[in-house]
Amino acid sequence: MGGIPHAARRNRRELMFENLKELPADKILALMQLYRDDPREQKIDLGVGVYKNAEGVTPVMRAVKAAERKLVEEQQSKSYVGLVGDPAYSDAMIELILGNAVERNKVGAAATPGGTGAVRQAFELIRLANPGAKVWVSDPTWPNHTTILAYLGMEMKTYRYFDAETRGVDFDGMMADLKTADKGDVVLLHGCCHNPTGANLNKVEWQAVIDLLNERGLVPMVDIAYQGFGDGLEADAEATRMVAAGVPECLIAASCSKNFGVYRERTGLLMAVCQDAGRTGINQGTLAFLNRQNYSFPPDHGARVVTMILTDPELRADWAAELEEMRLGMLEIRQQLADELQRLTGSDRFAFLAQHRGMFSRLGTTPELVQKLRDDHGIYMVGDSRMNIAGLNAATVPVLAKAIVDAGI
Ligand code: LMR
Repeated sequence: MGGIPHAARRNRRELMFENLKELPADKILALMQLYRDDPREQKIDLGVGVYKNAEGVTPVMRAVKAAERKLVEEQQSKSYVGLVGDPAYSDAMIELILGNAVERNKVGAAATPGGTGAVRQAFELIRLANPGAKVWVSDPTWPNHTTILAYLGMEMKTYRYFDAETRGVDFDGMMADLKTADKGDVVLLHGCCHNPTGANLNKVEWQAVIDLLNERGLVPMVDIAYQGFGDGLEADAEATRMVAAGVPECLIAASCSKNFGVYRERTGLLMAVCQDAGRTGINQGTLAFLNRQNYSFPPDHGARVVTMILTDPELRADWAAELEEMRLGMLEIRQQLADELQRLTGSDRFAFLAQHRGMFSRLGTTPELVQKLRDDHGIYMVGDSRMNIAGLNAATVPVLAKAIVDAGI
């Protein structure tokens, strides 16, 4: 009891930290640890959403390395940049994501620590602007969406999204549920490469969703974290552009973690798009205020590297080419897995794997069978049967296919 004074000892029960309880682990991050702790050599990691090449390596992209070298040589100061980051970063990202779907003066934007930072700031902006708004998320959605909303004490509703039968989108269910949303509610949509299912809306369906949002006065919030991982850089941005151009106002949370491979640099952007350009100043000021309250200045390194790549034609072309190789590699694995399962089962039950887009596919099986794959074969996927397709290669595809069939999935 050494140096603790008597009175303080008596009041031990009132010590602040004693009020803390063990919190539930994030299921994706907990799985990462379980995988690391598994001594089996043949184990396969299909858990956390990190791109891996055929050798199982998450590479630093060529253009990122080149930009970083240049930055080390040329950077003269590490002084603060600005509360919303470097305007050149916002400009470059807005062009990448929105193209010319909306004029630049209609977009308020702030750099954030990763896509998660953008999501968090977006929720805070919603709470500030309309504390009564409910946020509608797809069932299922990225688990961090729901935990941040709960943490912020915001009301959340789910809309049907995944059709367990077809492994595609339950579009009728989605529309029926969104028809019950109240004016001013926010609808969180995944811009492309839905996480965790891999199932996405087509263009006609997106338009129907936009029409419904407008009819009911709902505000879309688009989370776009995988641009370039689905059908290509332009195609993957198409839905986000349709939304931005087709509604009076929307929020867009973007991440560079995956498409630039700068995960640990925490590089994201939050955009507030409004058809009334007269409001952009206030929107921009609100984003700056929220940054200041939460962490002051957003991280700069990743954002600067991304800006250098996007504004240098050679670096940009090399980056886009490498990203395209990654995308095509994932598509090939999808096809190989679907073909192998077709061969083993003699049915098209798994054809959806080739139709899904992005890094993930939801296999659509029970937590018990997911556990069985882990116990019997050292195959790690998230409990809801989300698989990271980039965790596979030509050698492990047949292993997974056989395990799926052996488990009776
Ligand atoms: C994922 O969904 O696995 C990634 O977005 C990583 C994360 O932070 O959960």
